[in-house]
Amino acid sequence: MSVEYSIIIADPPWPYTSDRMVLQGGTVAEGASDHYSTMSMADLCALPISHVRPRNGLLYLWTTGPKMAEALELMRAWGYKYSTIAYVWDKGHSNPGYYTCSVTEFVLVGKRGKAPRRLLTNERQLISERRRRHSQKPEAVQDSIDRMWEDVPRLELFARRDRPGWTCVGNECPSTEGIDIADWLRKAG
Ligand SMILES: C[S@@+](CC[C@H](N)C(=O)[O-])C[C@H]1O[C@@H](n2cnc3c(N)ncnc32)[C@H](O)[C@@H]1O
Repeated sequence: MSVEYSIIIADPPWPYTSDRMVLQGGTVAEGASDHYSTMSMADLCALPISHVRPRNGLLYLWTTGPKMAEALELMRAWGYKYSTIAYVWDKGHSNPGYYTCSVTEFVLVGKRGKAPRRLLTNERQLISERRRRHSQKPEAVQDSIDRMWEDVPRLELFARRDRPGWTCVGNECPSTEGIDIADWLRKAG
């Protein structure tokens, strides 16, 4: 019998069409694919999430401004109904953008059936923490999720480190190094 993860968080390796950007003065800003392998939207949507998906639970999904539409599409494809923007991360550092220099990333939350039992109602949406390694997300998001919900099985997809109380999976994560998430999900089911 597979584990039903009542809380799942995912930080997908979104494909960016214009991954690199030439800045004023001619320097080139690196993109995601300079740092790790990315996946197509078709492959992300086709991941066999149903093998670990709960009847009742939450999906937290990291996204950037340019990937907002894809994030909503992915949430639907994985079988969750969008609720709101749970967290806004102010990175304290501007990234180049075509319209404005971007300084924020977002964590959307979607629901299936009922949410777990909520223990706190005063968690803050805005997290201000200076960015570190490329694409490394602040632990403050998962600290908040841990405080907020009852103790239910928790899964992090596309993780790059392990975290107590969570099953962490990703090809750069020490406990599952080199693994393909699609294979892991199939075996988990
Ligand atoms: C956006 S990064 C995650 C960053 C992470 N949340 C952090 O805070 O450090 C996406 C990760 O997914 C990994 N990845 C890409 N394709 C994968 C696949 N098919 N299976 C497993 N991991 C994959 C990448 O190598 C990368 O480590």
